[in-house]
Amino acid sequence: CEQLADNKHSYLVSSDDNVFDLIKDSFKVIDDFVTEEEERSLLKEIEPYMKRLRYETSHWDDAIHEYRETERLKWTQDNQKIIDRVRSTAFSEGVAPIRSVHILDLAKRGVIKAHVDAVRFCGDTIAGISLLSSSVMRLVDEKDSKRFADALLKRRSLYIMSGVARYKFTHEILPQEMSKFKDQVIERERRISVICRNEPNYSDRSD
Ligand code: OGA
Ligand code: MN
Repeated sequence: CEQLADNKHSYLVSSDDNVFDLIKDSFKVIDDFVTEEEERSLLKEIEPYMKRLRYETSHWDDAIHEYRETERLKWTQDNQKIIDRVRSTAFSEGVAPIRSVHILDLAKRGVIKAHVDAVRFCGDTIAGISLLSSSVMRLVDEKDSKRFADALLKRRSLYIMSGVARYKFTHEILPQEMSKFKDQVIERERRISVICRNEPNYSDRSD
């Protein structure tokens, strides 16, 4: 993996310049998007519910292992402000967000294997906050697995995936034994992601 990065995109490395250019414009990471206090506040609301669920070994389509998940529609006022900030940062005006927020709790040994989010259920933008752990998200060209980029998702960062990164590349969270960024080991801990998506554009659908 070649290590191409400029200051603005220090969260990104790629297999080649062309991939770097494609992905830097369609996959953004904003470090410290939430403060430690905001992280605690989100966890305080999420944890009591999550703790009652069991980790599942495998997702229905086999993409995610050792996880538990829920969707949340109503938030405390403070947390709603954070969700609103995610949406106003990620979505341009006039975009219809999916109202419920997806919360995914991935165990330390859990993995999210390479997949593309279903175009039937979700629009062109996916925005996620990482809580409790940093991790590495790998994006691989669907048509050529040698073309890929790795993005460092620091604890409390926000990533915004759209366009090429969302449709033409798969995404995955690297498992513990592969979790490296620029030769630095990125220790995997239990990770909770809070993910906002937008509605698909129904006029694009063929069915
Ligand atoms: C997903 C997914 C990434 C994340 O749930 O489809 O890719 O940040 N999640 O948890
Ligand atoms: Mn996904």
